[in-house]
Amino acid sequence: LAVGQAKPTTKAISPDLFGIFFEDINYAADGGLYGELVQNRSFEYTPSDHGGWHPLTSWDYLHEGYAMGRVSVESAAPLHANNPHYVQLRVENPLQKGLGLKNAGFDGIALKAGENYDFSVWARVKSGTAMPLLVQLRDKKDKVLAETTLSAQAAGWQQYRATFALTAADPEASLVVLATGKGVVDLDMISLFPQKTFHNRPNGLRADLAQVIGDLQPKFVRFPGGCLAHGDGLDNLYDWKKTVGPVEQRVAQRNIWNYHQTAGLGYFEYFQFCEDIGAKPLPVVAAGVSCQNSGGTWKIGGTGQQCVPLADMAAYTQDVVDLVEYANGPATSTWGAKRAAAGHPAPFNLEYIGIGNEDKITPEFEERFKIIYAAVRAKYPKVKVIGTVGPSPKGEDYDKGWAIASQLNVPLVDEHYYEKPKWFLTNNRRYDTYDRTKPKVYLGEYASWGNTLFNAIAEAAYMTSLERNGDVVQLASYAPLLAKEGHTQWNPDLIYFTNSTVVPTVNYYVQQLFGQNQGTDYVSGVVTPPSGAIADTTVAASCVRDAKTGDVILKLVNASATAQPFQVDLAGFKGLNRTATRTTFMGDKDAKNTFASPRTVMPQVTAYKATRQFAYTAQPYSLTVIRLRGK
Ligand code: AHR
Repeated sequence: LAVGQAKPTTKAISPDLFGIFFEDINYAADGGLYGELVQNRSFEYTPSDHGGWHPLTSWDYLHEGYAMGRVSVESAAPLHANNPHYVQLRVENPLQKGLGLKNAGFDGIALKAGENYDFSVWARVKSGTAMPLLVQLRDKKDKVLAETTLSAQAAGWQQYRATFALTAADPEASLVVLATGKGVVDLDMISLFPQKTFHNRPNGLRADLAQVIGDLQPKFVRFPGGCLAHGDGLDNLYDWKKTVGPVEQRVAQRNIWNYHQTAGLGYFEYFQFCEDIGAKPLPVVAAGVSCQNSGGTWKIGGTGQQCVPLADMAAYTQDVVDLVEYANGPATSTWGAKRAAAGHPAPFNLEYIGIGNEDKITPEFEERFKIIYAAVRAKYPKVKVIGTVGPSPKGEDYDKGWAIASQLNVPLVDEHYYEKPKWFLTNNRRYDTYDRTKPKVYLGEYASWGNTLFNAIAEAAYMTSLERNGDVVQLASYAPLLAKEGHTQWNPDLIYFTNSTVVPTVNYYVQQLFGQNQGTDYVSGVVTPPSGAIADTTVAASCVRDAKTGDVILKLVNASATAQPFQVDLAGFKGLNRTATRTTFMGDKDAKNTFASPRTVMPQVTAYKATRQFAYTAQPYSLTVIRLRGK
């Protein structure tokens, strides 16, 4: 369209377009977003989680002041059958101090001055009438920062609590529990949480990390994965029912990414987090098959059976149906009552559910997918089921997955691709020709391979094409979201963190700018890129409008090394405030945000005076967002 002739044409696009993908990979949950500071709090680590791990991994045995006795891991009459191990402290003679354990958390416990910390432990006195417990927070040099005493008195399991008020900070502190009397005491679920969790939730999330995620303003949150959702064997499928209820009764298991998941961050916490950040929940469950089912080659370490036996499919399918009831059912329903018991009588308003994650599209998959899909559709026709089309943007699984979804009229399919930045630039037209009568697309995982500004700008260019095709692409999420420094199984990621630092990548700011500037309608004929540029695939642009506010948002992307002129024609809009907010995001092609330099490239916000028609020069390697307020 030539500038000046533009009569903008408007099409409604998905109101949920940009969201996030959360997977417990790279220590995203335990040791990451989940607020628990004690590692292996329930003594359930095993060598199958990670070679060499055992129930006392991350714990040091202390016999201070020459205390005499022994520490052992026991399993007779545990706190709960789902949590079979606990530790026993048998103190023969406490002498000057006592006998106990020290936990250095996940790479140390980061304590902040001026903050309160909630300690809790389940204890059972096995001999004697009471056991005094000395609980301390110590700094890296073992100096005591705070301490308190508790008296375990019950002969049965009972929870004891204490709060620490910290006056001095330490990024690598530890927690110590010493039994200081003579006798025998059993301990389990030794826990320490910052009192300030995100939205002050009990059993809550790390506030700074959760806030950075919330600042993306995602419309939805996909969880719990990724490959984690289907695991690498039936023994490793993510079973949502084992992740709800009291934390000491949840079932911990091996994380497919070669560590341990406590399930402390379980389905209730996921749903609550979605609500707290104003995003829709999008759980993904296994389609009754595990990762690359039936002996696929992509397999990390799972053993055993790869598909739910057909005889067990009714029970497995019921679990999926029950998940919808857990989220949406009245508090009087069986599963809605469990949600209510956890403190949330109101429904979580689940609208989407994914069945399968980039599975190999085998007959085993197809048969099971159909069973689950039919059951969910029959009981909850309004819930939109998302099918899967394999791990790549084309190929056999992709074609077969699409054929099944089209035949069954599945509302959406989940496409995944990780490609070079060039791919994202040259495939900008991918969805322009998608058949609008077929299932819609959830672009559930995508990223260009890298965390440089060029990667981020290539992703920005691609995201304008998602907006342009927001009638067919209903949902999109960059993946993976989180990565803990030193514990990263997958790169690149969107946000890197340590125990005390959070570093949003340059890719993060692109996601944020699109997340914060989503629209309900795509408007064509407003921005004209430099001529021939689409063919060059180095520039891209979009215009969306938010029907609620009347705001018009322009996004101009230049992925080239030279400045590029765009033409903008606002003549078709009435009543816009022409004093706009302009956010520019630009820098050197290879620039990165790192721990050493976390703010190398940051969005810059300035006021911008737009006219009815104007030319805009986009700087090299830049994303510009111009937001005009509706009056
Ligand atoms: O995002 C990381 C992994 O990539 C996901 O677990 C999986 O679905 C994909 O292969």
